Amino acid sequence: MTAEQTYWDKRFADEGELWGKAPSPSAERAARLFAVWEAHSVLVPGCAYGRHCAHFAHHGFHVVGVDNSSVALEMARRIAADEGLAVDYMLGPATKLPLDSGGTDAIYDRALLHLLNAADRERAVAEYFRVLRTDGILYATYFSDQDAECGHGVEVEPGTFDAKHGRPAHFFSEGELREQFAGFHVSVLRLISETEDHGGTTHDHVFWELIAEKEG
Ligand SMILES: C[S@@+](CC[C@H](N)C(=O)[O-])C[C@H]1O[C@@H](n2cnc3c(N)ncnc32)[C@H](O)[C@@H]1O
Repeated sequence: MTAEQTYWDKRFADEGELWGKAPSPSAERAARLFAVWEAHSVLVPGCAYGRHCAHFAHHGFHVVGVDNSSVALEMARRIAADEGLAVDYMLGPATKLPLDSGGTDAIYDRALLHLLNAADRERAVAEYFRVLRTDGILYATYFSDQDAECGHGVEVEPGTFDAKHGRPAHFFSEGELREQFAGFHVSVLRLISETEDHGGTTHDHVFWELIAEKEG
């Protein structure tokens, strides 16, 4: 088991539905975008216990959730069964997605990529490109270098800080994100402030909102 799996398994086992059941505010924008895009299938890498998978399933998309925490996926499957939602949950790393090439219309990444080290970020973005169909679309929100937490803790890689003892996070500059997604056509890249609910306590993050297409 990797250190990140141990960290997330323990957090989900100890704290349950960490961010509550409601999807993040930007998930509604993503659902509208995917509908305009005429997407049928939506992949949610780093889906955790499935609050965004449930959101997209309620919107009528065929949803695949991938996460490498078995504890999170156990919760996700139970919640989907309780709510009568059909979501395909798969255990696996974002760096080696258990999916065929070109079979996914849309990807929604909420705050996964910034948790990976530089080499794994490269691998994950290559996987996103591989599994997306031509003209497929990605909607993502990632920590920015404008976020209040940027610079806190030990810098374990350039721009990556571990302030949570075992959960380093990368804080992207605009140039880095453009470079990271150079294989895509980036149509939107802008800073947004969003409130994150941690089960009663809230705090704001300054995220990059990224919309990127896999052009033919
Ligand atoms: C910050 S949480 C985001 C959860 C979810 N996107 C949400 O907003 O509800 C990160 C999630 O990514 C998962 N994760 C971390 N590293 C991963 C990896 N390399 N591959 C797949 N999932 C990973 C964790 O288990 C955790 O569920």
